[in-house]
Amino acid sequence: MGNLHGHRIVIAGAAGDIGQHVSALFSDSGATLHLLDIQDEAITREANAAVPQIASIHCCDTSRRSEVERVADRIGTVDVLIDATGIWPRDDWMAPDWDAAFDRVIDINVRGPINLVRAFLPRMVAQRYGRIVLCGSIAGWTGGLISSPHYVAAKGGIHALVRWFAQLGTPHNVCVNGVAPGPVSTRMTHDAAYDLSKFPLGRIATPQEVAHAMLFLSSPQAGYISGTIVDVNGAVHMR
Ligand SMILES: NC(=O)c1ccc[n+]([C@@H]2O[C@H](COP(=O)([O-])OP(=O)(O)OC[C@H]3O[C@@H](n4cnc5c(N)ncnc54)[C@H](O)[C@@H]3O)[C@@H](O)[C@H]2O)c1
Repeated sequence: MGNLHGHRIVIAGAAGDIGQHVSALFSDSGATLHLLDIQDEAITREANAAVPQIASIHCCDTSRRSEVERVADRIGTVDVLIDATGIWPRDDWMAPDWDAAFDRVIDINVRGPINLVRAFLPRMVAQRYGRIVLCGSIAGWTGGLISSPHYVAAKGGIHALVRWFAQLGTPHNVCVNGVAPGPVSTRMTHDAAYDLSKFPLGRIATPQEVAHAMLFLSSPQAGYISGTIVDVNGAVHMR
């Protein structure tokens, strides 16, 4: 399951906590990595300093179509696309300036994944092989534990988009799936107070646990899984 030897992987959000763990795990599995993040290249490089198989690092705002297409042209055809970008502002939707926050969350959490898939999917279709894994969230199913409505709408949108992309890619042997984590111990949640007595496992997830689910969905062995969202929530929410 974990053998991605010779596979070319793009990881967006590679300076982030889940992104870093995806990068380490996929590198251990033999993949060659192309990393991108809105952070400077040096920051993404530093975040992945222990990862040996990095082919390229790109500073790229995934919410901007032209930037993503420029980077995709430089990287070329890949076998796997992982999107681990995202923001999670917790704010007051009644605030007068909230609509700007809404636009920003939708730009990054929805338009970004669309830009990535639109840039990399056609090359996968042309080679008749690909795996794409996007990041949804428990918030997209339940309305979230403490999320604001822009984030909830964005993640529900990702769950729907996975199915749309899967309809497009699967006939060409490009499997498209998502993961829907519950709370994960990353910088995104560092200031969030969770009542651990509400979690059946008595803890929130680790980023490694999310990365392992992504690795499985990215493997050649997951060739008959497409259009699904894998919950990584420790039975907090069972659909
Ligand atoms: N941490 C959680 O509890 C949790 C739960 C469910 C889903 N998720 C999702 O998992 C994904 C990764 O989250 P994380 O916890 O690793 O957060 P993180 O903040 O550690 O990482 C997010 C990364 O995305 C990058 N990024 C933000 N905007 C970008 C843009 N426009 N272009 C390129 N890169 C951009 C950031 O620089 C950062 O490196 C996100 O989609 C998040 O919504 C996280």
